[in-house]
Amino acid sequence: MALKALVLALVFNELYAAPAQVPLDIPSTQYAKRKLQGRFLHITDMHPDPYYRPGASEKSACHRKKPKKDKTRAGYYGTPFSDCDSPFTLTNFTLDYLDKKWTSDIDFVIWTGDNARHDNDRKLPRTPDEIYHLNRVLANKMHEVFLSKGIPVVPSLGNNDVWLQNILMPGPNDITHEFSSIWKAFIPFPSLQVFQRGAYFSTEVIPNEIAVVSLNTMYFYERNKAVGGCEFKDRDDPGNLQLDWLDVQLDAYRRRGMKVWMSGHVPPSPGNYFPECYVRYAEMSLRYQDTILGHLFGHMNVDHFTLIEARDLEIPAEDVQGSANRSSPISVLKKKNRLYKELIEDFSDLPKSKKIDYDEYAVVNISPSVVPNPYLPSFRIFTYNITGGPKKYLDSQRKGHYRGPTMDRKKACRKGSAYQDTWWCQPHKPWHSDADAPSRTNALWAPLGYAQYNIRRKRLNSSSKIRKPGFKLEYMTFPVDALHPPADAVAPGKFKYPIPLHHLPRSLRNSTITESKFAPYQMRDLTIPSWVELAQRLARPKKEEKLRKRFRKYMYQGGREG
Ligand SMILES: *[C@@H]1O[C@H](CO)[C@@H](O)[C@H](O)[C@H]1NC(C)=O
Ligand SMILES: *[C@@H]1O[C@H](CO)[C@@H](O)[C@H](O)[C@H]1NC(C)=O
Ligand SMILES: *[C@@H]1O[C@H](CO)[C@@H](O)[C@H](O)[C@H]1NC(C)=O
Ligand SMILES: *[C@@H]1O[C@H](CO)[C@@H](O)[C@H](O)[C@H]1NC(C)=O
Ligand SMILES: *[C@@H]1O[C@H](CO)[C@@H](O)[C@H](O)[C@H]1NC(C)=O
Repeated sequence: MALKALVLALVFNELYAAPAQVPLDIPSTQYAKRKLQGRFLHITDMHPDPYYRPGASEKSACHRKKPKKDKTRAGYYGTPFSDCDSPFTLTNFTLDYLDKKWTSDIDFVIWTGDNARHDNDRKLPRTPDEIYHLNRVLANKMHEVFLSKGIPVVPSLGNNDVWLQNILMPGPNDITHEFSSIWKAFIPFPSLQVFQRGAYFSTEVIPNEIAVVSLNTMYFYERNKAVGGCEFKDRDDPGNLQLDWLDVQLDAYRRRGMKVWMSGHVPPSPGNYFPECYVRYAEMSLRYQDTILGHLFGHMNVDHFTLIEARDLEIPAEDVQGSANRSSPISVLKKKNRLYKELIEDFSDLPKSKKIDYDEYAVVNISPSVVPNPYLPSFRIFTYNITGGPKKYLDSQRKGHYRGPTMDRKKACRKGSAYQDTWWCQPHKPWHSDADAPSRTNALWAPLGYAQYNIRRKRLNSSSKIRKPGFKLEYMTFPVDALHPPADAVAPGKFKYPIPLHHLPRSLRNSTITESKFAPYQMRDLTIPSWVELAQRLARPKKEEKLRKRFRKYMYQGGREG
């Protein structure tokens, strides 16, 4: 053990001693070689609760007090549409189910945080030790189910994984140290040092091809009052340091012709993030559009997607000048129970035409949670292109185009201004966008669709341990005709099923059907143009009334808003 550590330390030192112009090419031998399946799992917000008691009242956070009436009692495997967290029976059932049914069909796992219970019971306040313990229990289980089979797992930190809730001081600190221990198996050794400072890292889930970035969104989260929130002038702000790091990571991956999934807990939005953090994240999302495959987040427990737009960068100069003035210039997506309306309003502002400039958009996908609070236990399986070409082109040879500073920027960045030396005033960083990139067109590594599974209300709401719940397809983004080999296929035996047939409801296994309630969106792929088109359709109240209804239904899983 000690010898191994010494050898690793030597390798580590050598890497850092390498001349700066040589790109670090760290061979990723961390994961066992497996045959690519072209699918991965996104799982989020498990919230296990050791105090959960079946039969307890919902009012007590499902902790005590057996009520007389049956209807408010906590179920054995969880309580649907409630304020209660997950019993371990539910998190165990979910991970055992994934173990049995999905591990041979997926390549990696993106796991976006909140692995401790909520602080929702005054009689049982949370402690740091409990939070670490719950995280350790789930990390061990994730290790056993996935990593031990050679499936990389990329965890990220949730706002309920820290004590006090929502608060994380600049690192290194006790929390960053503890998580570098809890997640040791998931973090590549060369990334540990940075992780101990900032609780973020990146890892190559498909060596030399695809990396996943795990962001620590606590340094962007507007409720974290322990940090400044990427204030332009404060170079040492932990949010700014993280975004400096991200810029270097994306640039390095891009130079190697690699593609990157962004992941984290709190999704980037003007309401969730401090204004400067949001603007900076949005700017980087667009600047590396040709490298980033997508943005996957949790936290909201509501199934939806949002668009990052170039116009989000046009913040008025006075807002920059008064960094202390925290009023966000951009519409605020804060309240969950108005989310549907806000989204539709946002989508309605999109240009109507097809001649939209896709360089100006990025898409954020927010997955529903495992915890049935306030909806139903869910997970997502993404499918991506593993057959397309070109195999790889060296992106660095492609020149990006330049976006000059806007008028407001010119003013704020004039000579002698306090902003002159900040990232915001560094003009001429090229925007790397490319209509042939997999974020823009169906090519190698492009996301093709996802299938979302949940446990139906009736199956979960059972007081009995004998009646096991089951995950069923809720819906998928694919059109029905993408599920089976085309009628004119030359070699139907070689067809790569986007969803393995045994994971489909019986009706969809029939290759002759053309329509299904499971296929509400009929998206050819999950590229930026496909998402923008869906957003444009959702903005049409009359023509697309049915589509809007279904979108809303999936957001709240058939339940009420909020
Ligand atoms: C659970 O089921 C009972 C009937 O068995 C029903 O009355 C109650 O409303 C259900 N509760 C939830 C939260 O769905
Ligand atoms: C959950 O699984 C772990 C082992 O992975 C086991 O120790 C624990 O008892 C299980 N809990 C429940 C409630 O099933
Ligand atoms: C903050 O900005 C708002 C408008 O954006 C303005 O009305 C207000 O006076 C500003 N406050 C400070 C302290 O500058
Ligand atoms: C993958 O991308 C290639 C183009 O590079 C395309 O021809 C092929 O149809 C795509 N595969 C799937 C399953 O969509
Ligand atoms: C598939 O669907 C077609 C038409 O909807 C039907 O005639 C056929 O019997 C179905 N096949 C199976 C195996 O269910």
